[in-house]
This record gives sequence, structure tokens and C-alpha cells, in this order.
Amino acid sequence: MSLKEVQNLVIIENTPLNATNFLIRLVSIKPLPKFVPGQFVNVEINNSSEIFLRRPFSVFEINYSLNSISLIVKILGRGSKKLTEIKAGESVNLIFPLGKGFTFPIPNERILLIGGGSGVGPMLFLAKESGLNPDNVHLILGAKSFEDHINIDDYRQFGNFYFTTEDGSLGERGFVTQHSVFQNKLKTFDKIYACGPDAMMKAIAREAKKSNIFCEVSLENLMACGFGVCLCCIEPTVRGNLCVCTEGPVFNINDLKWQI
Ligand SMILES: Cc1cc2nc3c(=O)[nH]c(=O)nc-3n(C[C@H](O)[C@H](O)[C@H](O)COP(=O)(O)OP(=O)(O)OC[C@H]3O[C@@H](n4cnc5c(N)ncnc54)[C@H](O)[C@@H]3O)c2cc1C
Ligand code: FES
Repeated sequence: MSLKEVQNLVIIENTPLNATNFLIRLVSIKPLPKFVPGQFVNVEINNSSEIFLRRPFSVFEINYSLNSISLIVKILGRGSKKLTEIKAGESVNLIFPLGKGFTFPIPNERILLIGGGSGVGPMLFLAKESGLNPDNVHLILGAKSFEDHINIDDYRQFGNFYFTTEDGSLGERGFVTQHSVFQNKLKTFDKIYACGPDAMMKAIAREAKKSNIFCEVSLENLMACGFGVCLCCIEPTVRGNLCVCTEGPVFNINDLKWQI
């Protein structure tokens, strides 16, 4: 297990990406440890007497030369809202790196990355770090509508992007599992990775299992400590009840006791 750091990082950017998602970039005064896509940080919410538990966020981008960590924060409740209101120049306390990340693909494998909601950040991080020829990296990103998608132009160089929206305003209409790439080409992939709402990941897991394709999902169970002490993030698995914060958040679907 790598050593965990507890550090105050200075926010250098906190900008809206769309109506509900913000890009938060933080800089450390010390060199950052190596992060694997899928790992997360646990963030203390400043100046808030009513929010005393930290909130977990997956790492979206790391710049080792600038010592910066970027997160994509979707406003869900009070904690995420407060975080998006913090001004550049203020500092925030983070614990990192937490959890176990995705298994890297091996050279020449074809991979399918599927992100929905707040699961888009870690999928983009994995696409960038996969080390694969971009022709072999395919991403399906799903959202309710056009305005819920973020601009991924800087990431197009790392793979082939497909979009779904429930209202048909961008890409194919429907859920990610209804996209034609998922429907018609699933068996051409060696590995599938997914992060997003539970129902989305379960639907993906069902199809991956049927086709016997390696599939990892990143769970977003409610968390408090983030490092295996409070036991509030337990997930039943074939290896017993495991803490998602230390044994996950990334799990192989064959290890989960999902009814799918
Ligand atoms: C490992 C991990 C990585 C994550 N990565 C990201 C990320 O990159 N970007 C991002 O925007 N969010 C991410 N999340 C989710 C994020 O932690 C929650 O959105 C945040 O904690 C909500 O806090 P809040 O105070 O805003 O909402 P709260 O006020 O605590 O909750 C508001 C409502 O949302 C529900 N809720 C809270 N957390 C979750 C959750 N995880 N799943 C489903 N419902 C929830 C609550 O039950 C409540 O109904 C991640 C979660 C985990 C566990
Ligand atoms: S969040 Fe405390 S044990 Fe996982």
C-alpha cells in the first residue's frame, strides 16, 4: 500500500464546464505521488460546520511537472456545491492517493471506456494514460442532454469518441448500452471499463458477462474516511464484504455479487 498524504493544496482554477460540472485544479508545493486512473482523493469541505465528512472525487488529470491535480466535480448536494464555490487562491485539504485504480490494458488490446454522469473524469484519465494506439481506444460518454456533456476536444487525440443523450440532442438517442458501438461491436473489445450510475454499470456488466469480456467498474459507494477505518463503504463481493475505499473503487465485475 502506498503512503497516503494529507496536504493543503491551493486551488488555481475552479471553472464551470457546463451547468452542473466544474473543473477544479489544485496545486501542491511538493512533487505528487504516481496516480493510477481510477484512484481518488478525499476532499475536506472548507468553512462548513454542517459538512464535516470529506467528499471523494476521482482524479481527472495529473500534471507531474506542475504538481497539479484536476477534478471534475458535479454538483449533487451541499458538499459538491460548496467546493465549486471556492475561489482560486484558497487552499483545500486533500488525502491522496486513495483506492486501487484500473488494470492497464496490454499493448495492442482494444478497449472500450464508458462514462456517465460524474464517471467521465476517470475514463478520460484512463484514455490518456492507457499507452495504446488511439485507434484501439473507444469511449462512449452518456448524459441526459447535450448541455450535460463536457467539451472533450483536448482528449480526441487519445481515442474515438461516441456520445449518447437521452433526448437525442447529441450523438445517438438513448443510454450508453443502446449505442450502436455497444450493441454491434462489443465482442471486438478485449477490455471494458465503466464509471457512472449503478444502473448503467450493471447494464454494462450484464452484457460483458454474457460475452465473457474482461470488465472493470468504478463504484461510487457513500464514503467517509476514505482509507478503510469507518466501514461505511462496504460492498459484498466473492471475497467477502470489502471496503470500496481500499479494495476498490475499481472492481472486476466477476468479483461483485451484483444481481444482473
Ligand atoms: C470513489 C468515488 C469517486 C467519485 N468521483 C467523483 C468525481 O470524479 N466527480 C464527481 O462529481 N463525483 C464523484 N463522486 C461522487 C461524489 O463523492 C459525491 O457526488 C459527493 O460526495 C456528494 O456530496 P454532496 O455533499 O454534494 O452531496 P450530499 O449532500 O452528501 O448528497 C446529496 C444526495 O446525493 C446522494 N449521494 C451522495 N453521494 C452519492 C454517490 N456517490 N452516489 C450516489 N448518490 C450520492 C445522497 O444520498 C443525497 O441524496 C465519487 C464518489 C466516489 C465514492
Ligand atoms: S470510507 Fe471509511 S472505510 Fe471506506
